[in-house]
Amino acid sequence: MFHAKRTLTFMMGAVALCAGAAFADDAAMQKQIDEVRGALPKFAIPMREVGDRFQNMYFAAKDGNWALAAYMSKYMNGAMNPAIVTKPAEYKVWKSFYDDTFTPVNKAIMAKDLKAFDTAYLGVVKDCNNCHQGMGYGFIKVVKLKSPADNGIDYTVKSEPGDVPK
Ligand code: HEC
Repeated sequence: MFHAKRTLTFMMGAVALCAGAAFADDAAMQKQIDEVRGALPKFAIPMREVGDRFQNMYFAAKDGNWALAAYMSKYMNGAMNPAIVTKPAEYKVWKSFYDDTFTPVNKAIMAKDLKAFDTAYLGVVKDCNNCHQGMGYGFIKVVKLKSPADNGIDYTVKSEPGDVPK
């Protein structure tokens, strides 16, 4: 009897200890998740890349490097992926911008239609800026550059839009 009671007490203590340890593990895990999330970029860092890729895209299309234009568009969108985790609500606005508003630019790249590209591209600049305005960043006004943001690429290499590896 004495033994049984002691065993029970011991077991209850062990259960309580385990539960405590699990709780501590959960808390430690959550802390790590929060730390990783905190270290991921929000909007400002990816937007730098969006800005540069958007500028580069123009010069690629203009000079007939259609794969480079398609590539710039693909990774302009991909650059925003950390915001899926860090800014989910705002990311939804980006996603609908890229999936809907930006479609005419992507279609023109796929069709290698420079005239349609030019119109769609210049038109979308105001949509970039509308989002800036709407999110309280009206002071960030995108303007089209006279030369690419990145000069370390040959924009005149002739290529097909479908040449970008999947
Ligand atoms: C979903 C809304 C949204 C859309 C669409 C959007 N932006 Fe932004 N952009 C932002 C926000 C918000 C910031 C400010 C970053 C911050 O501090 O959170 C920003 C910042 C920027 C910056 C400054 C980055 C820096 O820190 O130097 C550039 C450049 C930029 N955007 C370019 C563009 C271009 C080009 C487009 C269109 C192709 C575009 N953005 C579309 C929301 C948007």
